Amino acid sequence: MSSELTTAEQAALTSGGDFWHTTPVESAGIPGVTVTDGPHGVRMQAGEGDLLAGVPATCFPPAVASASTWDPELLRRMGEALGDECRAQDVAVLLGPGINLKRSPLGGRNFEYFSEDPILTGVLATEWVRGLQSRGVGASLKHFAVNSQETDRMRVSADVDERTLREMYLRAFQRVVTRAQPWTVMCAYNKINGVYASEHHWLLTEVLRDEWGFEGLVVSDWGAVVDRVASVAAGLDLTMPGPDAEGDAALVDAVATGRLDAALLETSADRVRKLIEKAGTRPAGGYDAEAHHALAREIAGRAIVLLKNEGDLLPLPTDGVTIGVLGEFARSPRYQGGGSSQITPTKLDDALTEITAAAGGQVRFAAGYGADGSTPDEGLLAEAVEVAQRSDVAIVFVGSVHETEGADRDSIDLPAAQVTLIERVAAVNPRTVVVLSNGAVIATKPWDEKVPALLEGWLLGQAGGSAIADVLFGRVNPSGRLAETIPVKLAHHPSYLDFPGEHGHVRYGEGLHVGYRGFDAQEREVAYPFGFGLSYTTFSYGAARASVTATGIEVRVPVTNTGGRDGREVVQAYVSLPGSRVQRAPRELKAFANVAIGAGETAEVLLTIDRDDLAYWDTRLGRWVVEGGEYLVAVGSSSRDLRATVTVHVAGDPARVPLTAESSVGEWFADPRGAELLGQAFAAATADAGSDSPISAMAADPAMLMMLGSLPLSRMAKFPGSPLRAEQLDKLVDAANE
Ligand code: BGC
Repeated sequence: MSSELTTAEQAALTSGGDFWHTTPVESAGIPGVTVTDGPHGVRMQAGEGDLLAGVPATCFPPAVASASTWDPELLRRMGEALGDECRAQDVAVLLGPGINLKRSPLGGRNFEYFSEDPILTGVLATEWVRGLQSRGVGASLKHFAVNSQETDRMRVSADVDERTLREMYLRAFQRVVTRAQPWTVMCAYNKINGVYASEHHWLLTEVLRDEWGFEGLVVSDWGAVVDRVASVAAGLDLTMPGPDAEGDAALVDAVATGRLDAALLETSADRVRKLIEKAGTRPAGGYDAEAHHALAREIAGRAIVLLKNEGDLLPLPTDGVTIGVLGEFARSPRYQGGGSSQITPTKLDDALTEITAAAGGQVRFAAGYGADGSTPDEGLLAEAVEVAQRSDVAIVFVGSVHETEGADRDSIDLPAAQVTLIERVAAVNPRTVVVLSNGAVIATKPWDEKVPALLEGWLLGQAGGSAIADVLFGRVNPSGRLAETIPVKLAHHPSYLDFPGEHGHVRYGEGLHVGYRGFDAQEREVAYPFGFGLSYTTFSYGAARASVTATGIEVRVPVTNTGGRDGREVVQAYVSLPGSRVQRAPRELKAFANVAIGAGETAEVLLTIDRDDLAYWDTRLGRWVVEGGEYLVAVGSSSRDLRATVTVHVAGDPARVPLTAESSVGEWFADPRGAELLGQAFAAATADAGSDSPISAMAADPAMLMMLGSLPLSRMAKFPGSPLRAEQLDKLVDAANE
């Protein structure tokens, strides 16, 4: 217990010793431990000066790619490998995963985040954390919460209604906290509804600890704390980086003067101590860099999404064709984003070398555009067109120029020089394949209509070059799926009118309708829908069956590989509740299964939907409610390719909202007991007034009754000739809620 420490020692323990270590307290024999970024590699700062120069480590695919695998098992293995690398470098906590929702395709850190969907994000991140922590290394679930933009990230207030907050922006955090108990949660920089995340008592204490049962410690994002005393009072334990002598002194003073409860500081110091003790028990270790490179390649290969493949242009044969490889990114890969997650890789594969090796030397290369990715260069362009003309197949590498923490993008379009390259190459070679490298969505319309094949290659980490060759030549049959919608244009996106806000506020105006939910609700055409991805084989679905269990719904569907190759299908279950009494998206992902199916074989696929995931947040009751009714479960290959539908009756949670005098006539009539009582009161009033009275006429007129529906009882009672009198109301309310 930290009660044997002085208040000053407790305060020191709750701020960092430097950029990457906790503060040691020598008098009590408490060592400092190392925490470091994160999330797709271990970024140990190499020297004193440059914060971003790291000791070489495996650069695994960033989350934009690993999430596109839709494979929790792969994420767990990635977490384990990261844990081994942490152990090799004596790291106690790896600062990841980043699980904020991708609210807008402009988000500067989308490459570090998983998805626009909270279930997909939560399922994948849970396994990542389990994998990492199985090695005795702690995770840091970040950035808690609603850090879905970089613009003004240190100050902006994300203004979100509570239902959206609970169902969308907090849902993945809740899942990971309750299922994997990350050692730490990192608070975000921004404010939520006007309060800094670092000072948000409701968020850090009432929700995170009291409701979800979080047992670990809350660490600040680097520099997120404005006022140490307010932060400790809200439930923040460790302020990073440090040292912060001034803040420590402020804490000591606040305890001495009674402004801060001494027990709160002691509890935070205890939590830091516990983390240090836990970290002390992990054995040292080493890792096999080649094996980790191979794992990075496997994940990257599974992350690539085949968006288009007309005439089965892909996979390419390894001999008998000449290949033109065009675009600087084939030689100088874009494989990760900028900022705190930037890894110094142990080695780096490039697609040009790997394609050349696979194709037995029948390869010619031309850069096509300037080395910076965006400067047009007529000479390089002409050379590329000439190579394309003389090749059987042209593969064009294009992508985003840079994506980095700290800044949002201002466009989702490719640089004009790259679009020109695609169009000019496609004009001379009908067998053109485009390979994209990007950390966030890129608009593909209208140029993708001019090419028969398109691979979404994301930012794939250090083995991306070999993974791209694996897919191009069919050593890997693509099975990656979009974890985010590719819109026809940015202006169609649900977030478009409210991103990134101004003057310190960003309004989450689309509410629940984040990503595909919004596109579906507004019946908007998209370029490629959420969940979409092709394979070199094909799958057919049989009829789905569903049954209700104690913990949710089980859906079974037979899926047959109808093509000539072994492959993987990502079977997705989307749920809707027609006639729901609350607003809902037309369909929501609730479960998925990633299954390997041999050519010609059929798999009986089981999808398990948790009852908790069917719940909506009822703002009147302040809790989760499963609404009873006939749920529609649509099973398919993407959010817009649903192959089998089944209806299942789910019993609802008791969720009666107490009636009051402020409840409307309509609400009273919607409630069985309320309807009975109000009906009696109206009948008595009409009987008293006689059958030709205005009250009776009103009661007999359906249009009038409809208009009365929105009238609160208290207001109705004030109308002259009302069938209700004010003095009746208390009794009526008591009787209704008995
Ligand atoms: C980032 C965090 C990161 C921290 C430490 C911050 O700027 O937002 O994600 O873990 O720096 O580098």
